Amino acid sequence: MFLVVPDLKHLFLLFSIGFYYVGGTSCKTPLLKKCKCGRGPYDGKELFIVNCTNTGFQNTDMLVELPEETQVLIFTGNYLPTLPWNIFGDFNINNLNNLRIIDMTNNHINEIKGKTYHHVQYVERLILNHNNLTISDEGLENHHHPRIFSNFENLEELHLTNAFADYTGDALSNDLHDIFYKSNLTKLQKLHLEQNEIKGFRDPNVFCDLISIRDLYLGQNYIPGLNFNITCLKKLRFVDLESNQIRSLNENELHTFDLMTYPYRNQEFVIDLNNNPFNCDFGLNTLQPWVRKTNVTVRNRDYLKCIKMKYGLNYTITLKKYEESKHHRVSGAVTILVAILSIILFTLLGVYIYLSKDTVKMKLEPFLDIVSRKVHYTKIESQNV
Ligand SMILES: *[C@@H]1O[C@H](CO)[C@@H](O)[C@H](O)[C@H]1NC(C)=O
Ligand SMILES: *[C@@H]1O[C@H](CO)[C@@H](O)[C@H](O)[C@H]1NC(C)=O
Ligand SMILES: *[C@@H]1O[C@H](CO)[C@@H](O)[C@H](O)[C@H]1NC(C)=O
Ligand SMILES: *[C@@H]1O[C@H](CO)[C@@H](O)[C@H](O)[C@H]1NC(C)=O
Repeated sequence: MFLVVPDLKHLFLLFSIGFYYVGGTSCKTPLLKKCKCGRGPYDGKELFIVNCTNTGFQNTDMLVELPEETQVLIFTGNYLPTLPWNIFGDFNINNLNNLRIIDMTNNHINEIKGKTYHHVQYVERLILNHNNLTISDEGLENHHHPRIFSNFENLEELHLTNAFADYTGDALSNDLHDIFYKSNLTKLQKLHLEQNEIKGFRDPNVFCDLISIRDLYLGQNYIPGLNFNITCLKKLRFVDLESNQIRSLNENELHTFDLMTYPYRNQEFVIDLNNNPFNCDFGLNTLQPWVRKTNVTVRNRDYLKCIKMKYGLNYTITLKKYEESKHHRVSGAVTILVAILSIILFTLLGVYIYLSKDTVKMKLEPFLDIVSRKVHYTKIESQNV
């Protein structure tokens, strides 16, 4: 008699379960149909993902059709030398209040226009790894748009690993500083700048406008020392300098690290210096005692390496091994020294006794006399009994 008709809500639930198990199906709108849309796991959470991976796109026209519920946009492996203005379209059409993560890794992006990103005020993470960015006003065209990230009012993580074109040297820091300053990234907590061939920062205060920064990733560059200001960053708790070109750190640099933690600041500070070519002879004489007494947490400190030249070959020694061998060398040296001193002492004593044997004899004679006489008397007495 009664026909059971599932209501819309339950239909939708069934649908979303379907979406979940196939990891998203094709998006519904025509321009986005090469992409997958649906709920799925991301970062340990269940989120609505639009995934346009290796879809062969050469423009961003389809992004104006992003569904309103999109929380994660993955747009990777496409070819977009220039990101045009306003890639997410007009706010009147599109409301992207749910969008939290934008991943535009590996798209050959060379230029991001100053007005590319609008309607991104809730985005917390922007990933632009493995691109070909230029941000300088030198060269044929002006690519310096210092307000490129200014609409990311709530950005907490910016990933720029291997993001820049094989670069232009330490000028990068000036351009970056201008972007950080004019984009007003006051909520940014994590900045990734690994693998960008960075040697130095012409402007040492390059990061100082990132007032909330906690973690700074500068691994796999060519940085030779602490050539940028960290004391201006009140919340900084981690600096990654792993796999750079640090041969030694002077007292000043080490003291600056000390200033980032107890007793100067009421927070922990961690640093990663692994896989740098420290010099065993002059690079470790300040580093090694500092590592042993500082309040800074030096990540994997026993495995810090130094390089030693011997017979024209380079040897790599871990700090732990270096300390042990130094300890052995010291205790070995002490043993030998004690042995030599003992030999000298005994020799001198022997010589002294030999040289003064007459005096000794003279001095001892009366005593020996008495003893021998006494023995003699005793003998006689005992014979008398
Ligand atoms: C996005 O799609 C690609 C290719 O289909 C897939 O390998 C990747 O795992 C997807 N990412 C997520 C977070 O679902
Ligand atoms: C990177 O951009 C430059 C122009 O700045 C261009 O000449 C080069 O071919 C691009 N490289 C890649 C891999 O896209
Ligand atoms: C920068 O952002 C803060 C809050 O995030 C805001 O109060 C301030 O007005 C902004 N400054 C500029 C120049 O946009
Ligand atoms: C680092 O920044 C702080 C705070 O802005 C400033 O007082 C200090 O002089 C700077 N240090 C260097 C070496 O530029």
